[in-house]
Amino acid sequence: MPGAAILEVEDLVVEFPRDHERLRAADGVSFGVGQGEIVGLVGESGCGKSVTALALFRLVPEPGRIAAGAVRLGGVELLALPERELRRYRGAGIAYVPQEPGEALNPVVRIGAQIVDVIRAHRSVSRKAAWDEAVDLLRRVGIADPERRARQYAHQFSGGMKQRALIAMALAARPRVLVADEPTTALDPTIQAGILDLLASLARDEGLGVLLITHDLGVVASACDRVLVMYAGRIVEQAGVATLFEEPAHPYTRALLAALPRPGVSRGALPAIRGAVPDLARLPPGCPFHPRCPVAIPACRDVEPAPVALGPDHAVRCLLASPDDAAGDSADRPEERP
Ligand SMILES: Nc1ncnc2c1ncn2[C@@H]1O[C@H](COP(=O)(O)OP(=O)(O)OP(=O)(O)O)[C@@H](O)[C@H]1O
Ligand code: SF4
Ligand SMILES: [Mg+2]
Repeated sequence: MPGAAILEVEDLVVEFPRDHERLRAADGVSFGVGQGEIVGLVGESGCGKSVTALALFRLVPEPGRIAAGAVRLGGVELLALPERELRRYRGAGIAYVPQEPGEALNPVVRIGAQIVDVIRAHRSVSRKAAWDEAVDLLRRVGIADPERRARQYAHQFSGGMKQRALIAMALAARPRVLVADEPTTALDPTIQAGILDLLASLARDEGLGVLLITHDLGVVASACDRVLVMYAGRIVEQAGVATLFEEPAHPYTRALLAALPRPGVSRGALPAIRGAVPDLARLPPGCPFHPRCPVAIPACRDVEPAPVALGPDHAVRCLLASPDDAAGDSADRPEERP
């Protein structure tokens, strides 16, 4: 891991009431993001990635609520702060690039001026210096002709340009941690590579910690240092990127990787794996993956697996994993069911 964890998330639980049930979109989520580290968060649609990201900012939409857990930034417990104090950390401490640009940009303020406002809210610099910095940020996120674009309004930007403007706006506050929710999904491959390079250089040169939410295992392979694999509101495996691709220990991770085109890991959305994504309000008992798991044993229907450490930077939630089985590849693993 490149640096000490700046962001630490511990046993986070986020619930939504639904009819007479409660749906847990995050259930005991724990992870860290180190200084200068890019951590990928992957999982199928609806598994709880965005809800987890929003919870870090205490921005879970109503009627959802954070039922338990801790989120520490540089040791400060964000979930316990009064709202007014929390605002000081949003942006400058930890910044968010939302999945949907939607209403995040103000339609009646020029893009450049919105970035200037963020810069001046966090640092005392002249309007002129802030404007130059805003133009430079737009250039760095791959917006051509940034001087002209900075004077335009959101409706003059395409979807991909809005996404990049939001990344520029998030970086304008010079955060210690950036949480970017699918920041490159809508972008063409060249722009996407440019954004990932920018994040990598900010991580390397300025120690920015990044939580990168993505559907794209190619993005994970090329940009991330470590990966969190999420299933049904839980982190089912976390590992360094090389370990995850070479020695995946969770059957879900293996299924995702096995379904990728070969050779190597090419870019593309998360592959489909057999069975349906479960309804989070009606999870099966035991391991939530058991109805789809090709190697399930009878105990999987009753016992929910706890995290098992397979190495200093590798943990998995599967009944078949044991610490002696460092590669998650024990010889006595049951045969795949037909
Ligand atoms: N506003 C809401 N009200 C009720 N339930 C919600 C709300 N937002 C999310 N959920 C529930 O939380 C679960 C997790 O949603 P989330 O948006 O975090 O998924 P995701 O992993 O980000 O998916 P995607 O890859 O499609 O963005 C969803 O399955 C949904 O049931
Ligand atoms: S605990 Fe059982 S069902 Fe769950 S992933 Fe492991 S083998 Fe599969
Ligand atoms: Mg999402």
